[in-house]
Amino acid sequence: MASTFPTPNPIFSHFITLTFLYILVTTLVAATGEDDTFGKRVDRRLLGLKKEKLSHFKFYWHDILSGPNPTSIPVVLPPSNKSTTAFGIINMIDDPLTLGPKLSSKMVGRAQGLYGSASQQGIGLMMVMNFAFMEGKYNGSTITVLGRNMIFSKVREMAVISGTGLFRFARGYVQATTHTVDLKTGDAVVEYNIYVMHY
Ligand SMILES: *[C@@H]1O[C@H](CO)[C@@H](O)[C@H](O)[C@H]1NC(C)=O
Ligand SMILES: *[C@@H]1O[C@H](CO)[C@@H](O)[C@H](O)[C@H]1NC(C)=O
Repeated sequence: MASTFPTPNPIFSHFITLTFLYILVTTLVAATGEDDTFGKRVDRRLLGLKKEKLSHFKFYWHDILSGPNPTSIPVVLPPSNKSTTAFGIINMIDDPLTLGPKLSSKMVGRAQGLYGSASQQGIGLMMVMNFAFMEGKYNGSTITVLGRNMIFSKVREMAVISGTGLFRFARGYVQATTHTVDLKTGDAVVEYNIYVMHY
């Protein structure tokens, strides 16, 4: 006797089962928040990144080695007294950044990081610093500088390698020019001009 129900096409019923399973799994994944993709493209506007702009900042960096409250202290001494460039010395810094050249002028941030003597001919530092800003809307944002600083050159250029906060995705450069230096103590005031692309 023939069945009153049509026999379902086996391929079709297989398809229905797979579709059901797929929906079940994707629903479960969405519900548990699990996602097996490691990386995916994101619309930059979702992060509030609209238009890239170029900004210029100017301030003075105070490297204070003398007195009771130095902001720059040697943490590694050069292994040899023979080097005239103090090759190998490393200083840790927490240097004030001020609007004007005087230490008493408005503080806009601090340069935190370190520099080391990385040159055996001429005094050349490798600088690694985070400029942690405190001024206005930039308060809490940082710019990271990494570069070569031949301190007796008139203008030294170093790279802005990135940043945080308002400086996410930042890139650019700084130009450092010595304003004053006390050759006895090593205390220095350096003018910094930063040109930075950021969103
Ligand atoms: C460096 O010089 C000082 C004083 O002249 C001496 O006491 C010290 O041992 C020297 N250090 C090295 C690593 O040669
Ligand atoms: C910068 O932010 C810190 C922490 O949010 C706050 O304590 C401080 O007062 C702010 N400084 C300025 C100058 O706005």
